[in-house]
Amino acid sequence: MNEKERWEQVYLTKRTDNLGWFAPHLETSLSWINRSALTAAAPIIDVGGGASTLVDDLLDSANHRSITVLDISAKALSCVKARLGKKAELVTWLEGDITTAHLPAHHYELWHDRAVFHFLTELEQQRKYRDNLLQALKPGGHLIIGTFAPEAPPQCSGLPVLRYTPDQLENTLGTEFVLERHCKEMHITPGGVEQMYLYCYFRRTAKRHDSCGTI
Ligand SMILES: C[S@@+](CC[C@H](N)C(=O)[O-])C[C@H]1O[C@@H](n2cnc3c(N)ncnc32)[C@H](O)[C@@H]1O
Repeated sequence: MNEKERWEQVYLTKRTDNLGWFAPHLETSLSWINRSALTAAAPIIDVGGGASTLVDDLLDSANHRSITVLDISAKALSCVKARLGKKAELVTWLEGDITTAHLPAHHYELWHDRAVFHFLTELEQQRKYRDNLLQALKPGGHLIIGTFAPEAPPQCSGLPVLRYTPDQLENTLGTEFVLERHCKEMHITPGGVEQMYLYCYFRRTAKRHDSCGTI
């Protein structure tokens, strides 16, 4: 089974509120997005958004109107679209793998990722993710990433994950991203397992970089 088939299988066989990473609301993400004071028109992408309720909350509470949800699983996206009903038309849906997806250049003002980057255990996958992040996030843009913290289990949904400290995540992402804040948050899965998450908030540096450093 390849990566996509595996994730499709997950969403085909479990209720979305029974998935290990399910949370009724992504409170930390929501509060940090609100704190970033983006306008309702600012383009936001939720990478590997799955069936999360972040998009519902961004549409409802903050009235955001330029949201893209990308996920490798078509089933996950169809679950959210069904949940949103008519409001799904306000969202751009992208079915794809974030390491290979074609994203518009310097388009997004905020890139959100909860529990996706930590599945990229190989350097080559991380490099491709970073290339896409640099391609699609505006200089000066906001980046929120939630990964497993060192105290969390070494697997998520039966797959190996990398667990990060803030320094490790900052080093992995590279010098174009400045860590502004971080926090840990305990997540309890519907099955009662404790998973400590690390949330990091970065800003992309405003200067564009060429191959020698800066221009
Ligand atoms: C652990 S779930 C987290 C879902 C959501 N972010 C949340 O917090 O509820 C990981 C999600 O990433 C998606 N995913 C996994 N690998 C991916 C990839 N390479 N590209 C895009 N999506 C991916 C899965 O389909 C799944 O929806």
